Amino acid sequence: MQLFIDSAEVSELRKAAETNLINGCTTNPSLAAKAGKDYNDVLKEICSIIKGPVSAETISLDADGMVKEGVAFSKIAKNIVVKVPMTVEGMKACQRLTKKGVKVNVTLCFSANQALLAAKSGAFFVSPFVGRLDDIGKIGIDVVREIKQVYDNYKFKTQILVASVRNTIHVLDAAKIGADIATMPYSVFEQLFKHTLTDVGIKRFLEDWEKVPKKR
Ligand code: E4P
Repeated sequence: MQLFIDSAEVSELRKAAETNLINGCTTNPSLAAKAGKDYNDVLKEICSIIKGPVSAETISLDADGMVKEGVAFSKIAKNIVVKVPMTVEGMKACQRLTKKGVKVNVTLCFSANQALLAAKSGAFFVSPFVGRLDDIGKIGIDVVREIKQVYDNYKFKTQILVASVRNTIHVLDAAKIGADIATMPYSVFEQLFKHTLTDVGIKRFLEDWEKVPKKR
């Protein structure tokens, strides 16, 4: 399973990359606004830190605009993947960008039917947003399970990139289902390392080590 960081904060992406456990990065306009720098500059910097796919989101609402933005993004670095929304225009753009050899991440996916259309449009990634579904009282991870079933039935190549991850349970559930990727905030990635019993165990071993007789 691949782990991506959902962030445009260069400092945390550097820390994440140092673990050698991160396979890619996702960004969006909200994350770019938080980073407070020119989006293209940030993307260039991120692509030099993260060796795997880096998703850059288009903001146009029409296919022509998305394709134009996507082609421009793809010139920033080889590892750019262009994010387009799950709309009719988005699917037209996905098909056109894919034909040009530009990889596409279909974002804002909230149902397995939407994911089916994304796969049929040649998407490289589809991003079901689990946290935002939870926010409206649905069980977001159920959509990931349905997408996995549909994709397996028809052997679609589109990779399932579980997004809007808010906690470590989302990551575990995505892994149990067999999703290809989970993208998460750096804070959730940090949590994956943690267990109280690990901390207690280290403390106890260190205390006991003090009791081991030592020469000298
Ligand atoms: C990923 O590609 C999305 O941009 C992101 O996971 C959205 O997360 P949010 O719902 O926490 O904003």
